[in-house]
Amino acid sequence: MDRKALYAGSFDPVTNGHLNIIERAAKMYDSLTVAIAVNPHKTGFFTFEERVEIVREVTGHIPNVKVDTFSGLLADYVNENGFIAYVRGLRATTDFENELQMAQMNARLFTGETETIFLMTDPKYSFISSSLIKEVASFGGSVDGLVPQYVSERIKEKYGK
Ligand code: COA
Repeated sequence: MDRKALYAGSFDPVTNGHLNIIERAAKMYDSLTVAIAVNPHKTGFFTFEERVEIVREVTGHIPNVKVDTFSGLLADYVNENGFIAYVRGLRATTDFENELQMAQMNARLFTGETETIFLMTDPKYSFISSSLIKEVASFGGSVDGLVPQYVSERIKEKYGK
């Protein structure tokens, strides 16, 4: 049986914290789909097409990672694709309450036996969020080492630097 797992998020932009979770989760399953949530009401910093291209680029070295997009309810996407696991990264206790709520709601909505699996974020990356990266970069601060080099270049390009 193909043990397929899912890691979903906005990835605007993908950070080294996300990449660390992706690399570790990819080792645990036959395949890991990294799915970018399409929200038609939110434009974001990078467009969805750009995010797909960027996530493909930075995960290109992991052979069992697939990149996809979904819109609407995450549970519908999970149920249609038969993932056995939905992977989430936990950075700090502050993430826990929200994650517990989402995991319990999703558990009601999953029609199969999909489990939500939590991986603890590497402490090196526990303070990173996509918003913080964008804020620091917008004022010319360095985000090197916090996002893949390719992402850093794409951010600088966006800000015309
Ligand atoms: N390293 C670094 N940053 C991380 C991280 C990690 N390991 N894990 C999470 N983050 C950050 C993200 O960068 C993001 O930062 P930001 O808020 O500054 O942009 C933040 O945590 C939230 O992550 P995001 O990727 O946006 O995921 P989310 O927790 O908002 O969940 C979906 C996104 C798509 C999974 C969720 O909204 C969803 O399921 N949507 C579909 C609709 C639905 O089904 N809703 C019901 C859910 S029960």
